[in-house]
Amino acid sequence: MRIIAANFKMHKTRSETKKYLEELKKIKFNGVKVAVFPPATALFEDKVVGAQNAYPAINGAYTGEIGLEQLNEFNIKRVLIGHSERRHILNESQEFIAKKFNFYKEQNFEIFYCIGEPLEIRKKGLESVVEYLKAQLEGIDREYENLIIAYEPVWAIGTGVSASVEEIRDTHREIRKFTKRPILYGGSVKLNNIEEILNIENVDGVLVGSASLDVEVFKKMIEIAKEI
Ligand code: 13P
Repeated sequence: MRIIAANFKMHKTRSETKKYLEELKKIKFNGVKVAVFPPATALFEDKVVGAQNAYPAINGAYTGEIGLEQLNEFNIKRVLIGHSERRHILNESQEFIAKKFNFYKEQNFEIFYCIGEPLEIRKKGLESVVEYLKAQLEGIDREYENLIIAYEPVWAIGTGVSASVEEIRDTHREIRKFTKRPILYGGSVKLNNIEEILNIENVDGVLVGSASLDVEVFKKMIEIAKEI
């Protein structure tokens, strides 16, 4: 099964997200798993919706965070954990990320778990990349039945330059050695490269940032995935 996921990051309001989801439902997914991660203010009870982040607690004194209780209100059972923007901009440690993973695993959530190396590591070659990615999987049950891995090289996110077919193929082949779970690619996935990327061995789907913000583009991406 192909997985096509949209990460809105800090884009779109609640009303915009509502319209987006209505528009999205106009097409059939035909076996493609579709996931949409809107900001926390735009969560809806909808089987495609997941949270971009959540604190590993039911509720509590964690100012600015949302936890299980807030997600339960919308019947949300899907969460994104370990995105590079949270690792690098918000300084989340591997230990904290693993804590989130384990909490939401206990709750049987579907976890989209992100890993990806910065440019200086990529420049050192594949072996260094693999070491780096391995460290980002520390404390994570790599065979958790509701785990979906997203490989997103940091240097390809939001740059308009995706990793090359060879880089994606080689890296996904290495990640495959760690897990049998689906592996998505993310980083400048656009309408003009999605088909090529989805056809790479060990690529089970994509996690799309900026290109997913236009619902017509995202729908076309789903249509392409349906044909593969
Ligand atoms: P872009 O598609 O904008 O490069 O973002 C990728 C991403 O970070 C998805 O989580």
